[in-house]
Formats: sequence, structure tokens, C-alpha cells
Amino acid sequence: MIRGILFDVDGVIFDSEEFIRQSYYDWYEKRHNIKITYEDLLPYTGTGEPTSINGLGRAFGLDYDLEEDKKGIYDCYARLIQGVLQPLPGVRKFIENAGKAGLRLALATSADRSKLNSSMKATGLGPENFDFIVSGDMVSKTKPDGSIYRYAAAGLVLPNEECLVIEDALSGHIAARRAGSHSLGLMTSFTADPQILAGADCVIKDLSEFPSFSTLEEFNAVWEKMCNDFRDASIVGKLIDRASGAIRNAYAPYSHFRVGAAVLTSNGRIYGGCNVENASYGATICAERGAAMAAIEAEGKTEFKAIAIVSESPEPAPPCALCRQFLAEFAGPDMQVYLISIKTGVFRHYNFGTLMPMVFELEEPGEKA
Ligand code: THU
Repeated sequence: MIRGILFDVDGVIFDSEEFIRQSYYDWYEKRHNIKITYEDLLPYTGTGEPTSINGLGRAFGLDYDLEEDKKGIYDCYARLIQGVLQPLPGVRKFIENAGKAGLRLALATSADRSKLNSSMKATGLGPENFDFIVSGDMVSKTKPDGSIYRYAAAGLVLPNEECLVIEDALSGHIAARRAGSHSLGLMTSFTADPQILAGADCVIKDLSEFPSFSTLEEFNAVWEKMCNDFRDASIVGKLIDRASGAIRNAYAPYSHFRVGAAVLTSNGRIYGGCNVENASYGATICAERGAAMAAIEAEGKTEFKAIAIVSESPEPAPPCALCRQFLAEFAGPDMQVYLISIKTGVFRHYNFGTLMPMVFELEEPGEKA
């Protein structure tokens, strides 16, 4: 049950990206005499000013002062947005519905409080609409670290799994997943697929596409239906279809526990596998390793971005510890893991790091004395 919403701000509540980008262009030209481009800023979308300013400082070899640059950028921003900044489509209505439904609302922005205050002042969407506000100056680790969303959920006195993050940036979805929250993506800056692979459960154009609701139960029913419909039509649906095809050939005469798996590689290709048992039980190979073997055979060394695992148990089976270690050779902590029971339809979504927090890695010989 979702009881709280944790809103990212830039690209979700306000479309400040264009104005903040212009502020960077103006400030860097005025103060550092360089012309910053869209591409220069793209890697820092949603990460907050210290990360962007330090990144640009390094990239251009600048002699800069973080606080001075931050203030300069925010002053430009406050001037640029006067009378023109508006909340994004559907935001006011969504917040109004959420209030009626008794959802608790938090803002979690990587930017400083001063930028948020300027945006709130310019649009009239003030702090009275939210139960808790976390800004970038209150947390030491920026997104994709999960701490900002842990802090925001704690501020609402809710566990993260009862909170829905609304995000538009890839680093934000990763942060939401790492904190253990669900996440809804908006297409302000990215299309659907990259947001899914960063951890979004569902992606819509903007909040005007979110159906109306007036109670907590209604909100949760709407959200679940949105996720299910979206999943079926997305890359996740394709992955589940492949795993559901693979389970048909599962060879499990001893345990009768049939498993199908499908991995998505960074090349965008999907490979399937099923469990294959043996009269000498220990020789059995799990579905996940079967899918991984097929991917390596086809592509050589590759990276797994997502895996779907289907089984017939009422609660879908997670990968065994041996498979987790095997997959860790080709997958990072932010690989998406989807578990589905084809009997009950129960669906679970994790990031790999939650299932495999401590990977065994072989040190290079002689690396440690
Ligand atoms: N199995 C898998 O295919 N994947 C897992 O991660 C867990 C177990 C298979 C192996 C065996 O054929 C059956 O399930 C029962 O252990």
C-alpha cells in the first residue's frame, strides 16, 4: 500500500530545467568566459549544483569557487523565472487529489533550498502543500545514492516501500530503487526505456496522464493498474514473455519446480534459459545461469541490464545464491530484477544490489601484500 509521495522537483513539479540550463550558460559566460553547451550539462541532470559545478570545473580546468558559482547560477535563475515559471501539466490537480486521498507528500530536490524557494515564490505553489521538504544542502550524498529518498520517507514517518517516488531523471530512479521505494517516471527529459532500466515501474508523459482519484484505496488501485498495463506494453513485458516461453522447456522431473529466465543485455538483446535437472542432483543448472550462458555465447563479455525470472510457486522464486554470484560477474547493483509467478500473477521488482549486497570478487594476484 502506498501512503506517501516523494516528488523530485526539477522536471516533475516545475520545468525548471530550461531556465537552470540558461542560468548555467549565462553565468559561465559572464564569470568564466566560456560557452557551456547542452551536452556539457546532460550528464549532471538531476544530480544537484555541487556535482554539476565540480564536474564542469574539472572538465574545463576552471579556477572556481563552489559557493560563488552556486549563488551566481541561482541569482540568474531567480531573475529568469519571474512571471514565466509554471508547475508542469497535471501537478496542481495531482496534489489536490493526493490531499483529498490523505497521501502524505514530500519534496526531495537535489538543488539548494534557495532555488526551491525562488521556484515556489514564482509559481505560488508553496511549502504549505507539502508535509516535508528535503533539499540538496541537507544530504551529503547526492542521487543516485538513495539517502535523499530515505530522508524524505523518514520525514513522512513512512517506510520507503510505502512511498512512491515521482522522477524524471535516471539518477533519480536509481536513487528511488536503492532507497527501496517504487518509482513513476515522467518524460520531461528521457524516453520510457532508459527510465525503466534505471528502475522506474511505470512511465507517463506528465502528471496530467495520471487518472483522477479521491481516496487512498482508489489511488493504489489506479497505480497498480497503470503499472500492469504499462509493463505489458514495455521492454519488461518482452522480457517476461521470453522467460515465459523458456519455462515451457524446463526439464524438472525430480523437483517438478519449473523456472524460466530471460536477460536483457546492454546491446538491447534478450536471451532465455530454463532449469535443466540431472539424476545426479548436483549437476542441475538453474534457469538464470542458462540464460546468462546463452547471452555470453552470443555476445562474449557483455553487461546484463535486466532479468526476468518466472516460476509457478505462488510467491515468485528469487534467484538462488549461486546464480546471484554468477550473474554478478556480468551485472552491477542497478540491474533490474523482475520476479513473476505465472500461476498467481504476483510480480516483484528489485534492484540487483538489494538481492546481492556483497559480491565475491577476485583480487588481481599480488594486489594485496
Ligand atoms: N532453480 C532455478 O532454476 N533457479 C533458481 O534460482 C532456484 C532453483 C531450479 C533448480 C532446480 O531445477 C529446481 O529449481 C529446484 O531447485
